Amino acid sequence: MELPLPLRQAVDGALVGVPMTELTVAAKALSQRYRDEVRDGRLHLSDARFALAYIATRMPATYAAIHASLTALAKQQPGLAPRSLLDIGAGPGTVMWAAAEIWPTLDAATLVETSPAIRTLGERIAAARTLPRIAWRDGDLRSGLAEQPHDLVTLAYVLDELAPKDRDTLVDRLWSLTRHALLIVEPGTTAGWQRILTARAQLIAEGAHILAPCAHALTCPIAQPDWCHFSARVARSRIHRLAKEAEAPWEDEKFIYLAASRAPTPAHPSRVLSPPQTASGRVKLKLCNADGAATERLVTRREGDVFRKARRVDWGDVFEG
Ligand SMILES: C[S@@+](CC[C@H](N)C(=O)[O-])C[C@H]1O[C@@H](n2cnc3c(N)ncnc32)[C@H](O)[C@@H]1O
Repeated sequence: MELPLPLRQAVDGALVGVPMTELTVAAKALSQRYRDEVRDGRLHLSDARFALAYIATRMPATYAAIHASLTALAKQQPGLAPRSLLDIGAGPGTVMWAAAEIWPTLDAATLVETSPAIRTLGERIAAARTLPRIAWRDGDLRSGLAEQPHDLVTLAYVLDELAPKDRDTLVDRLWSLTRHALLIVEPGTTAGWQRILTARAQLIAEGAHILAPCAHALTCPIAQPDWCHFSARVARSRIHRLAKEAEAPWEDEKFIYLAASRAPTPAHPSRVLSPPQTASGRVKLKLCNADGAATERLVTRREGDVFRKARRVDWGDVFEG
């Protein structure tokens, strides 16, 4: 997955003239803060150096994870044609870019972001290609969100920056602002998965229909040390590679998400929970199924069409067979 061309160009444009050593140092420090899940009262993206490091080294990965999650949501709700998006903790506007790729119906976005450094950068980047109506709001999500309901509400890579007590209140508030669908994305760590499980239980109790990735609304069948997560392959641009002092032209972003809706999903096919294991004439799939169980399914060539389908699916896809 690559950033769409206008976004890639806008990001590269914003990075022109930034000394590479400065970017590298900031990228390292930012990455360490994310890895340690530091919550010291300071915003990770509080200054311009960190905001630039974010668009160079993190935005491509969060874009890929968000795009994959929104795509899964869209597949489970094919009739959904959102016109308005409310994105909380918008950073540089990553969700808006991904959602605009998926739904041409989208014509308005409200993006709430409390850090002026990343908000200003996001506004600058969005000038490259923007939705007809886009409103950036300076707001702290902990002090309540004075927004109106929107068709699609999103929260990507934000829960991990909040204290547990603030998370529950926020999820409640986001659901109350959701006209059709809500998406939450988190890093694909065990801690990220636990936060998603908590939000899932809360949303189910409030009457939400779970669209994805779960194939059901029963208790999650996965137990630690295993955890539910997915992976998106991200193409690294030259600046991305240099800023990370990395050689490989790509990286894998591990993520977990939850898509919930006001309307039930028309079907709940099984979802592939890990990379399929393929050998001659057989494919082994780890699946989350509609009956609430996680199972391993061995599909052999003898199953004809089902086998052909099994050979085509990937980690995170749905599987019917
Ligand atoms: C990791 S970034 C994610 C940005 C974007 N959603 C993405 O996925 O690329 C988390 C964002 O949440 C914002 N944030 C953190 N705490 C916040 C708060 N209390 N109110 C509003 N935004 C907040 C941060 O400033 C940061 O831009």
